[in-house]
Order: sequence, then structure tokens, then C-alpha cells
Amino acid sequence: MNVTHLECALCGLEHKAQSLHNLCTKCGKPLLVRYDLARAAKELKKESLTSRRADLWRYREVLPVADDANIVSLGEGWTPLLHAAQLGRRMEMNRLYIKDESLNPTQSFKARGMATAVSMAKELGVRKLAVPSAGNAAGALAAYAARAGMEAFIFMPRDTPRANVVECERTGAHVTLMDGLITDCGAEVGRRKDAEAWFDVSTLKEPYRVEGKKTLGYELAEQLNWELPDVIIYPTGGGTGLIGMWKAFDEMEQMGWIGPQRPRMVTVQASGCAPIVTALAEGKRFADEFPNAHTAASGLRVPRAIGDFLIIDAIKASGGTAVAVSDEELIAAVTEIGAAEGVFCAPEGAACLPALRKLIADGKVQRDERVVLFNTGSGIKYLEAFS
Ligand SMILES: Cc1ncc(COP(=O)(O)O)c(C=O)c1O
Ligand SMILES: [Zn+2]
Repeated sequence: MNVTHLECALCGLEHKAQSLHNLCTKCGKPLLVRYDLARAAKELKKESLTSRRADLWRYREVLPVADDANIVSLGEGWTPLLHAAQLGRRMEMNRLYIKDESLNPTQSFKARGMATAVSMAKELGVRKLAVPSAGNAAGALAAYAARAGMEAFIFMPRDTPRANVVECERTGAHVTLMDGLITDCGAEVGRRKDAEAWFDVSTLKEPYRVEGKKTLGYELAEQLNWELPDVIIYPTGGGTGLIGMWKAFDEMEQMGWIGPQRPRMVTVQASGCAPIVTALAEGKRFADEFPNAHTAASGLRVPRAIGDFLIIDAIKASGGTAVAVSDEELIAAVTEIGAAEGVFCAPEGAACLPALRKLIADGKVQRDERVVLFNTGSGIKYLEAFS
């Protein structure tokens, strides 16, 4: 195993590897996993990848599990990067791509993070896992916990799409629906976890979900033959995927796989819940809680993100930006992408398209640039949104 330690993303305090952690013991911010990358690079070579398993564990040396026996897998990752030719024609762009995460187990990119988090929980002897979720993370946790033989305790807003609730129940989780938002669900987990002996796997409140999500960055580089795109457009709630990709790019550079160039990272949020867009516009590194959060893109209904500063740092360092789109725009985009490319997107993923239109109109993206839209989940989970 190549993990050396965990490091607080804000104050830098080191925490011991291979023991249970939630947030930094000094400042309460997220911990990130650090590796001996020189050592990892000896085994993990670009050329060696061609013969490896077609899931995220192909990047084994930069993933945290020590013992292979603890890997809990349902075949997550290694999803297609689709050239969107017809949609591109409509946009007058010939280098437009969709990274289609709806092909993951439980039909969303949340499978990546839960695969690594549950594997590490297994390795560290955890029996009971708890999570507040907008829906897709819950479905993923329920499935991986079942696969690992662990118990999952799930807290979701009462108006979470029904598919997410049913899938959790059918995969054996204990489901509690709450009046309120994901932040209220998170507070409930926080209140009860010690008494119930639950390990809290909330977004960025444990260090390993982001490790699974970072493989999005590794895959993108590998699928584009180690030349990163010009622009990444990513629907952002808690921001794990964006933070993870940014981390992956640094790791790959340290291993000598890529140079210093980075894609411009663009956060897309719904206009009914856009804390990162607001913070960026106001020049803040830490976002205020977004009042009266509402959107049909339930995964974007995250009024406060503990990793806000990491999202904002990555956007700024990359020369990117943050864009808000309306629910009308993102729901219409589900049909537009579906009809043009045959990908039935989650509303969150579809939001990337109206965001791209705004970026082009504002001169922030050029039509000849290589742009990747992240479809983070499947529209099949959101039937209520299309009625
Ligand atoms: C389909 C989908 N897209 C995007 C997001 C936002 O993801 P993140 O919290 O990693 O920013 C979520 C979160 O629930 C989601 O379910
Ligand atoms: Zn700290």
C-alpha cells in the first residue's frame, strides 16, 4: 500500500493512515489521503494499464485499501467517454464529449466514492455506516454496504426521488425520510452516530469517497490518451468529483504522466441552490448557506458544502468559473441530450449543456475547444421530474 498519511486540506495537520477518521481533529475540515507517488509510479505505469481490470481498481496503487480481500466492488468506474457528435454539430463544436457515469452500479457516479469508502470501512473494522443523502449517494451506499455485509442507515429528504428510496429499501438499508434538506439529514446523523455506533460517511466527512471519485480524473486522462481537455463542466453539490479530479491531476503530474496544464474547471449549479456560484461572484473562499434551496436536480440541492474552499480553490487555480442554470433549462436539456445522443441524463448532468451555452455566449469557452460534460447519473431515477 502506498498511503503515507492523511492531511487536512485546510491546516495541513497530519493524521495517521489506516485508522478511522472523520474531519481534521484541529480545524474540522476534510482530510485528504496522501501517497508515496514515486513508489506508486514504479508499479503503476501508463503502459501497464492496458491489461488491467475494466473498473476503477485498475488504478490500484493510488487507491487506499491495503488488503485486496477488503475491496468491495460491483464493477464501478471505467465508464465510456462518448464523443457527442450530433450534439456537437448543433453547438458547432466538434470536440464535445460526455463522460457517461450513468453506467455505474446503482446508475450514478456515487458508486465510485462508496466503493472506496465502504472498502476502507471494511478494512478498518466498521460494521454500521450512516449517510445523509440527496438520493444517489444513498442508493450507492445501500448497495455497497449490502455487498460488504454491513448495515447502512440512510437519511434523505422526504421529497427525494422515489427510485432512490425504493432502491435503498430493496438493498436492505434502514431508511429514514426527513422533513428538510440534506443538511438537516446530516445534522441528524451527527446527533445520533455516537450512541448508535455508526460511522459517518457524509461527503468529505470521511477521507475515502473522494479517492474513488478522483478516478474520474485518471480515466479522463487515460481515455484522452493523456491529454486533458480544455474545459470540464461538472454539476456540483458537495463537490467531491471536482475536488477528486483536481487531486488526481496533481497526482498524475507528480508521477510524470501529465504536464502542468489543467482543464478549466467549471461548476454548474441550479439557480435555486447556487452557493458556490454566489461565493465566487462575491470573492469568498467559504460559501454562505444558500437560503430556501430548491431544484428538481436533487443532487444539486446542497445549500452548504464542507469542501467549499476546495471547490473554489480548484476553480480559481484552473481559470474556470461557476454557472447557474434554471430548472426549466436543465430539464429541457435532458430531452435535448437524450434525443441527440441516446444518453438519458440525470437532471444534474443535463445541466452541463445550458451551462456550456452560457459560457460560449459569454466568450468563456471557444467552439473549437475540447469540452467534457459530466453526466453524473441516470434520468431513470427521476421519473417524477418528467411528468
Ligand atoms: C446525479 C448527481 N449529480 C451530481 C451530484 C453532486 O455531486 P457532488 O456532491 O459530488 O458535487 C449528485 C449528488 O447527489 C448527484 O446525485
Ligand atoms: Zn485542519
